[in-house]
Amino acid sequence: MKRLVASILFRVRSKCLRTLFSMSFPFFRKPEVGSEWAPNARFPAFRIPASDFDVCPAIVRPHLFFGCMLALFGCSAGPEQIPTVKAPFALALPAHFSPPNLPEDSPMTAAGIELGRRLFYDPILSADSSMACASCHLPERAFTDGRSLAVGIKQRQGRRNALSLANAAYQYKGLFWDGRSASLEEQALIPVEDPNEMGHDWKAVEEALRRHPAYPAWFIEAFGIADTSELTRQLAAKALAQFERTLISADSKYDRVMQGDGAFTELEERGRQIFFDTSEELPQGECGHCHTPPLFTDQTYMNNGLDEAPELASFHDKGRGEATGQYYDNGRFRVPSLRNVSLTAPYMHDGRFATLEEVIEHYNQGGHPSENVDPKIRKLHLADIDKQALIAFLGTLTDSSFVNNPELDDPF
Ligand code: HEC
Ligand code: HEC
Repeated sequence: MKRLVASILFRVRSKCLRTLFSMSFPFFRKPEVGSEWAPNARFPAFRIPASDFDVCPAIVRPHLFFGCMLALFGCSAGPEQIPTVKAPFALALPAHFSPPNLPEDSPMTAAGIELGRRLFYDPILSADSSMACASCHLPERAFTDGRSLAVGIKQRQGRRNALSLANAAYQYKGLFWDGRSASLEEQALIPVEDPNEMGHDWKAVEEALRRHPAYPAWFIEAFGIADTSELTRQLAAKALAQFERTLISADSKYDRVMQGDGAFTELEERGRQIFFDTSEELPQGECGHCHTPPLFTDQTYMNNGLDEAPELASFHDKGRGEATGQYYDNGRFRVPSLRNVSLTAPYMHDGRFATLEEVIEHYNQGGHPSENVDPKIRKLHLADIDKQALIAFLGTLTDSSFVNNPELDDPF
């Protein structure tokens, strides 16, 4: 019974909202050059279908606009109130990053981001309601999971290490270790149906979201849909992507020191010089050629010599080659960002290294031979103090205001 009342109230509210949107839109719309300032045909201001009057007749008829405001805020018994203006969200972008490409067909709004955040933390997306996106992308670990290989529903093990989502908005050259996904919207559809991750199917998720007591209203708020039938996986993906674009990490000690606020310790500074090959006396680490600031990745696909391979077809995980079908891409993986790297162990696409010490030792040894291993992977001749210095420098990439930001944390 409670459900029935709630669903009737929801219908009433969504009709009112639709009426309100169609009415108010022309008032906010700028006149096009050469056209008259008049309500346009697509959004007829005063020709509202009769059915819309049926639901809240007494309130709507005399003063359509204020009536609907009343219906939305006054006669609503729902737990959430629906704001009537979809304000564009001004993403706070760090000045020292070049601005990200934002999709034109999904302008960010506060309601869209909030919906995406809820979906991100909600196990409703998994087949047995045991896993959310956040189960493998935990904020306190810079949105990774602390495991070598990801573990999905029913303890099924995946084949790769969970990537950090920090600065995902800036990844233009393909998502995933092999770059097989082109956009955050496209990517967001994948984990739900991956049998080793959330093991669900989108049709069932869409139905669950439509039946849910709160999601329909949140989708209306975010996307102005008129009816629950318009609640689709594509909108869910847009919302998830909007939230993910707010995961910006640009306030580490490194950033502050580079902006003239504070200083590196002696050890960190030594590490910085090795990382960027800037000292005549110290060994050159070559790191900064691939892990290029400010993102600490140049977003290319490289073979950093993890495995010896007599021929490029023999890599166990072909990485980039799997996505492009190119023989010379076998064994290449995306250069990962090193931001927050102290929090994102274990390391590499298969999580083979548990610590940064092991990673540095790998580079120091010069990696393993194969046809396309990058020439910058060579013996580095680092002294113990140099290894410690590199690790200390990597520690300056930790952004505690990012990992502790309550706005990025679980909203439930
Ligand atoms: C079972 C653990 C697991 C779950 C659940 C999961 N992910 Fe992931 N995620 C991973 C792994 C592992 C990778 C790397 C996979 C690869 O490269 O093949 C990844 C990669 C990504 C990437 C690519 C990041 C980049 O920089 O390329 C994004 C974005 C992402 N996940 C978002 C999500 C979203 C959104 C959800 C929920 C809909 C989700 N993930 C659920 C484990 C998980
Ligand atoms: C030729 C380009 C290149 C150079 C030079 C390079 N790296 Fe990498 N780095 C990569 C690639 C590619 C990966 C991912 C490899 C994989 O998982 O298959 C990686 C992975 C890493 C990781 C793991 C990150 C994670 O989230 O799993 C760390 C840490 C790292 N590199 C640090 C360094 C340091 C420190 C140096 C210098 C001593 C360095 N790299 C030099 C290309 C490079």
